[in-house]
Amino acid sequence: MEQNHIYPIYDRMLQRADRERLLGQRAVMIWFTGLSGSGKSTLALALERELYARGFLSRILDGDNIRHGINKNLGFSEEDRFENIRRIAEVSKLFVDTGIITIAAFISPTHRIRAAAAEIIGRENFVEVYVNTPLEVCEARDVKGLYKKARRGEIREFTGISSVFEAPEHPDLVIDTSAAPLEESVRRLLEVVLQRVSLPE
Ligand code: ADX
Repeated sequence: MEQNHIYPIYDRMLQRADRERLLGQRAVMIWFTGLSGSGKSTLALALERELYARGFLSRILDGDNIRHGINKNLGFSEEDRFENIRRIAEVSKLFVDTGIITIAAFISPTHRIRAAAAEIIGRENFVEVYVNTPLEVCEARDVKGLYKKARRGEIREFTGISSVFEAPEHPDLVIDTSAAPLEESVRRLLEVVLQRVSLPE
C-alpha cells in the first residue's frame, strides 16, 4: 500500500489496487512510439476496441486530443517535444493510478524523451511498442500531406526528414504495419497486453 505520511488524511485515500479491483483489471501504460504515419493511432484504436470487447476499460491519448488541447501551446523543437511528452506522462500517471489501461500514441522521438515518460509513469507500468514501419512507407502514405510539405521545406524539424528519430533499444514489442495485416499485429499486441492487464482469478 502506498502511503502519504505528509498529510495523514491521505492514508485513508483509496489506492490504485482498490480501483483496479473495482474495474476488474490491472492498469498499465501502452506506449506507442514511431514516425508520423507509422500506424500508432490505428493500432491504438484497434487495441482499444479489442480490450473493450473483452471488458477492459482503456483510454487513448494521442495528438488529436492532446496537441489541440492541453498542449496546444507547444511546437516541435526538442524542448517542446520533451514538454509535450512530460505533460502526457503526468496525465497518463493519473489515468494508470485510476486503474485505467492507458494507451499513448506519440512520436516521442528520442531516448531522453521516452526515458522521462517511463520514469514518470513508472517502468513497471510501462509497455513500450515500437512501430517501426519504414520511413519510405510512412512517406508514401502521407496521410496528412505533411511529408510533402517537409520535403519542400515548408515544415521545419519534421521527424524522419529534418529531425531525428532514435529507435528504441529494448522495446517490449516491435510492429511494422507494412509487413503484416493489421489483424495480425493487433493479435500480437493483445497477447502482450492481456497478460499484463488480467487480474488473477
Ligand atoms: S512528439 O514528437 O512531440 O511526440 P506528437 O506525436 O505529439 O510529436 O505529434 C506528431 C504529429 O504532429 C505528427 O503525426 C504530425 O501530424 C504533426 N506534426 C506537425 N509538425 C511536425 C513536425 N515538425 N515533426 C513531426 N510531426 C509533426
